[in-house]
Amino acid sequence: MTTTVSSPAGSYDPARTTGGGLSGELARLEAQAALAFPEELRVLREAGLPERGVLLELGAGPGAVTRRLRAALPELSVVALDIDEQLLAHGTAEGAAKMVGDAGRLPLRDASVDAVLLRYVLQHLPDPKPALAEVARVLRPGGRVITVEVDGGCWGLAEPAYPELARIHAKVAAAQSTAGGDRTIGRRMTRMLRAAGFDEVKLRLFSTSSDDRPVGDFAPHLGPQRLEPLVASGQLSLAELALAADRWRRFRDDPDAWVMLVGFVASGAPGPSSTAYNSP
Ligand SMILES: C[S@@+](CC[C@H](N)C(=O)[O-])C[C@H]1O[C@@H](n2cnc3c(N)ncnc32)[C@H](O)[C@@H]1O
Repeated sequence: MTTTVSSPAGSYDPARTTGGGLSGELARLEAQAALAFPEELRVLREAGLPERGVLLELGAGPGAVTRRLRAALPELSVVALDIDEQLLAHGTAEGAAKMVGDAGRLPLRDASVDAVLLRYVLQHLPDPKPALAEVARVLRPGGRVITVEVDGGCWGLAEPAYPELARIHAKVAAAQSTAGGDRTIGRRMTRMLRAAGFDEVKLRLFSTSSDDRPVGDFAPHLGPQRLEPLVASGQLSLAELALAADRWRRFRDDPDAWVMLVGFVASGAPGPSSTAYNSP
């Protein structure tokens, strides 16, 4: 790693995303990848993830997914790029090249990679357009961009459900939006790719449910840890945190509880106009 990049405004701050600071967030990203990766990989392949060549994992963070991609696709060269040098430095992905860089100004040559994966990155960018133009620029003809995202309006299903938590979830989404992010990006991803000039745009979903995993494994998504920083910043009250913690405990300890989470995977290929954003 040779470059240092100053962080642009965006809704992701690893030290304040989860209770427990940076180490809490590293553990959350690891648990999140462990939970979804097997199902996700199947859909990433369907979306055009290549078996070999060069994959740019843009916004790779500490590499919880990079490591799994390396293990599953040993012939694929992975470049793990992130704006946050500290996160990259915590990376555990052996054999991946690491680069510090900003999605809006990628330190890579034109047409130099076969695929680009952005996993839970676009939702944090105040404006994804420059990043998508850069992705199109660095993709070889016939390459694929693959974005993995969520949508707060279609996050999944759970039973028992706790309607009293709806206002807390609305506050979480509002906090991300105030910080320049978008928790409802899932519904917009394919239109964003088309607007950025990508062709052959597809949307596929993957799901992870407690039929395959113990309910406790869903803590990174359903547990109260992600709410703690919002209490510190005054966006949630202690009473709301206590309510969310209580409902999570009830859910986790209910032998009949069931949950399914949904992930959105949009993909596309660079088209003739896909780098137009940066053109004069
Ligand atoms: C929620 S984390 C996801 C990390 C990883 N993709 C994963 O799924 O485990 C979002 C990542 O995007 C990175 N990021 C945010 N803005 C960026 C930018 N402008 N350029 C490059 N990376 C960025 C963050 O530093 C962070 O590592």
